[in-house]
Amino acid sequence: MAVERRDFIKQACGLCASIVGISAILPALSSCTPLKSYSGEIIQGSIQLPVNQFAEENNLVIIKNPTLEFEIAVVKFPNGKYRAFELQCTHRTYPLIATKSGFVCNQHGSRFDLEGKVTQAPAESNLKEYLVQSNGETLNIKI
Ligand code: FES
Repeated sequence: MAVERRDFIKQACGLCASIVGISAILPALSSCTPLKSYSGEIIQGSIQLPVNQFAEENNLVIIKNPTLEFEIAVVKFPNGKYRAFELQCTHRTYPLIATKSGFVCNQHGSRFDLEGKVTQAPAESNLKEYLVQSNGETLNIKI
């Protein structure tokens, strides 16, 4: 009887370890998916971004333009709205790193959520936001 119980505990612990291991790895794997980037051209003070740049599993597109000092993150929200933020840390002038869950500054550790709000100091101000207009097929981001 004692041997059976020991075997049961071993198997149960192995199963639990597997479940914990898999659940710990899955978010890390999904966060490894590269973010979509788009080379946006500035025309008359705006960047046009086709909405088809957002895939179902991709709610974030990074706009890169050599004339912009900082990249722009465009976020698609579940309600179908889009918002665009300058990826410049508001603590000091430093570029932010975009992740699927928010924006991080490696200089002093500030963090911002996908709505551009500060979630971790030392930054005190939210991210600069750009006006985004949509015609259903294209986003017009006013720079
Ligand atoms: S420059 Fe970003 S936290 Fe200081």
